[in-house]
Amino acid sequence: MEGKTVLVVGSGGREHAIVDALSRSPQVGKIYCAPGNAGTLQQAENVPLKDTDVEGLKAFALEKKVDLTVVGPESALAAGIADAFRAAGLKIFGHTRLATAIESSKEFAKGLMERHGIPTAAYRAFSSYEEALAYVSGRPFPAVIKYDGLAAGKGVVIAANLEEARAALSDMLLDESFGKGRVVIEDFLTGPEFSFLCFVDGPRVYPMPLSQDHKRAFDGDKGPNTGGMGAYTGLPFITEEDRAFAYEEIMCRTARAMCEEGRPLSGVLYGGLMKTPQGIKVIEFNARFGDPETEVVLPLLKSDMYDICEAVATGRWTEEPVWADGITLGVVLASKGYPGSYKKGFPINGMHRLGTRVYHMGTALDPEGQLVTAGGRVMMVIAGGGTVAEAREKVYREVEKIECENLFYRKDIAHCAFE
Ligand code: AMP
Ligand code: GLY
Repeated sequence: MEGKTVLVVGSGGREHAIVDALSRSPQVGKIYCAPGNAGTLQQAENVPLKDTDVEGLKAFALEKKVDLTVVGPESALAAGIADAFRAAGLKIFGHTRLATAIESSKEFAKGLMERHGIPTAAYRAFSSYEEALAYVSGRPFPAVIKYDGLAAGKGVVIAANLEEARAALSDMLLDESFGKGRVVIEDFLTGPEFSFLCFVDGPRVYPMPLSQDHKRAFDGDKGPNTGGMGAYTGLPFITEEDRAFAYEEIMCRTARAMCEEGRPLSGVLYGGLMKTPQGIKVIEFNARFGDPETEVVLPLLKSDMYDICEAVATGRWTEEPVWADGITLGVVLASKGYPGSYKKGFPINGMHRLGTRVYHMGTALDPEGQLVTAGGRVMMVIAGGGTVAEAREKVYREVEKIECENLFYRKDIAHCAFE
């Protein structure tokens, strides 16, 4: 029997980890990745199509008789890739545009939580600058101001005082820096943040191991926000009771709420959660695998990734996925200057000496076949272990073997686990 043909949409470390997990499935024969990177080339054939080129991707999937498409980025989902593929009779792992609103509209997500009693910070939404300013003036600081639509992780401002709030509101509502749209103003919560990724098929929710991202660029959680500089599983500050609460009262309740509102989920629901002194609350939802969380979570998957994705895509029941014991930890190597401006094209050597997994994020091969840097976040080195300490020691030993003059990385990934 010929193996299944799969198309993975996206080009980051997340997609490399998805390709890697699918390649471990005994059912999978051929993997395409659009557009992919120099890492996905090891297990997949890269296809030069952009992740938002829905028509191009659909034509490709029909031509190559792709059995299943797995979508990485929210931009493709928000562009309606799942709707278009399903209308063409193609199987796809990814939410409809209606369901993707849980990520693409913060106001929708907050309203959903309010309507269904899902714990989150108190909020109000505004399109008028004057009304927003009047509201925020009467609230305690810091205040959290969020642009309502997709803003590539840049649409959130924690305003320490009225002046900062005024500047953020003016930027979003008067200057329309992210486009025309509303803002959500919510109360500031405190506590450690963590990520809960689940495979979701309508009301069915299959949890993945919990993980924690590190959003700031430098050690000690200093510096600007990035796409994520490292992640690990095995969070010591989350008890089994916390996890059960997050699963039942947040993830399952949200999946049911989306069904009740006629927007059933069919893909990954990512809960960005916080353990506050008042219990676990939702900071945000994403409608996709997290990056870099996926790179530490999927290596623990013992079940067949193709089977799970296909079951979710077709609404078929499947066994609860099985996860390996132990933990994983990953460190991102980024181009100097990131998340600001940076140069590309620096040679990367020493990769053959690594004994652990490496997921490529922004790499390319130059015309001579030399691996070079091609993005802000360049690659993520992953190591497993029985404990966080063991995995951390291993990963930093491996990172040292990579030779490239234009990379930096955080030396304190998983610091929360040691505090
Ligand atoms: P978001 O894009 O909604 O995840 O927000 C980005 C980051 O801003 C989060 O990861 C938090 O660190 C922070 N943040 C967002 N909302 C809140 C809140 N209500 N209280 C405290 N921090 C927040
Ligand atoms: N790790 C943050 C995100 O995927 O949005």
